[in-house]
Amino acid sequence: MAIERTLSIIKPDATKRNLTGKINAKFEDAGLRIIAQKRIQLTKDQAGKFYEVHAARPFYDELCEFMASGPVVVQVLEGEGAIGKNREVMGATNPADAAAGTIRAEFAESVGENSVHGSDAPETAAEEIAFYFSGLELVG
Ligand code: CMP
Repeated sequence: MAIERTLSIIKPDATKRNLTGKINAKFEDAGLRIIAQKRIQLTKDQAGKFYEVHAARPFYDELCEFMASGPVVVQVLEGEGAIGKNREVMGATNPADAAAGTIRAEFAESVGENSVHGSDAPETAAEEIAFYFSGLELVG
């Protein structure tokens, strides 16, 4: 399988509970390498831009408020089949449906406050990485 890069976000519910290290250990244990990482505070407008694809959804405003409610850790994960592997490690969007041992099963609080985001396809991964990082910041 090809080496891929994917964007990951550790969300405010997780940074507030000091879970960054525990979540990063899940990525590394699965063979994903964290090749870029920074802790930032998004404005609601910036969160809205990142999640623009969901603008028509009823939860959009709540999602943007939440993503601006505290620090997030944005990161680029690299590895074989990284996009799919990261989605496996994260578990289903709703923690009630997430498989045992996944990040969302262990740490997420609700479908909205679900601890992590991960890109869903190669095209979105490239766009989402470019949203937060310049090429100089990616050190594989
Ligand atoms: P994420 O993978 O970051 O992509 C979009 C986010 O929207 C998703 O994770 C959830 O956090 C959020 N989301 C999806 N469905 C709902 C919902 N029904 N209510 C609130 N937030 C939701």
